[in-house]
Amino acid sequence: MIRDKIIEFLKKKSEYVSGEELSQRLGISRQAFWKHIHELKESGYDIVAVPHLGYRLEGSPDRLFPSEISSRLNTKFTGRKIYYFDTLPSTIDVAIDLGIKGAPEGTLVLAESQTKGRGRLGREWFSPKYKGIYMSLILRPDILPAQASIFTLLAGVSVCEAAGQVCAIEAKIKWPNDILVNNKKLGGILTELNAEMDEVHFLVVSMGLNVNNDKKSLPVTAISLKELKKENVSRIELLQEILRKIEANYMLLQKKGNALIIDKWREYNITLGLRVKISSHHKQVEGEAVDIDADGSLLIRNDAGLTQKITAGDVAHCR
Ligand code: BTN
Repeated sequence: MIRDKIIEFLKKKSEYVSGEELSQRLGISRQAFWKHIHELKESGYDIVAVPHLGYRLEGSPDRLFPSEISSRLNTKFTGRKIYYFDTLPSTIDVAIDLGIKGAPEGTLVLAESQTKGRGRLGREWFSPKYKGIYMSLILRPDILPAQASIFTLLAGVSVCEAAGQVCAIEAKIKWPNDILVNNKKLGGILTELNAEMDEVHFLVVSMGLNVNNDKKSLPVTAISLKELKKENVSRIELLQEILRKIEANYMLLQKKGNALIIDKWREYNITLGLRVKISSHHKQVEGEAVDIDADGSLLIRNDAGLTQKITAGDVAHCR
């Protein structure tokens, strides 16, 4: 897109660039160039125009525009194709649609807000505009449906690594998919499959993260990066790093199998070693969370000393 090219060019230059030179380089008329500059200003870019000098970019809006995400992303497939929306009911449904239509691996669906954001077990995911990251990523691993849970763990590890790197925040994981800091929820991951009994067509790995939410707008059980850092955090940088980490971990998984991802997950987890109560399929299981097995299931030892394997459920930590 011409607009992306203009921004890319202005970003590279710290001095003023003449409009004539830019329109020539882009092969467009001066009128078309002015129209694009006007639209860029409308979407929040702070472009200063000085007669006889030209144009200079003094600030970019805090929007997850695909051009911003793609710039210096340097991934091979995650986020190489981005679908961006101001508002959606849920990024998941759009990603599933795109997946069915054959969208390539790594296709990313982003929304600045969601009206029907959903969490696990039919819960709502509060998705206020420009505050968080709401994303769904299409992956096409060659796996069986029963092997899909490792991707939830992989995504959790990737978020923790990215939060550490970009914000110096030590996030933890509550099995299987809650991202916590100070025992409060910073984010969550939801993996949905499009599959038959013996074949996964594609996965949609989705996440919601509280980034620049103010403390008072969040429930007491939740926390945002802004609350932790006492300042706004760049959603662009964080999202880029999440995409890089997901790709790196995915490649690790393909080369070395689940073990290294599970090892990393163990480092970040706060569930193992605790007494837990798990509600799954209308049953409750209580016991000590002793380990996680090769496919990502949680192993619980109940009070009778029997070990049970839990593949899904809602975990409450008892101590
Ligand atoms: C959880 O329950 O912890 C998972 C929350 C997942 C929320 C994300 S936000 C982007 C994507 N779209 C949705 O409707 N939900 C997921």
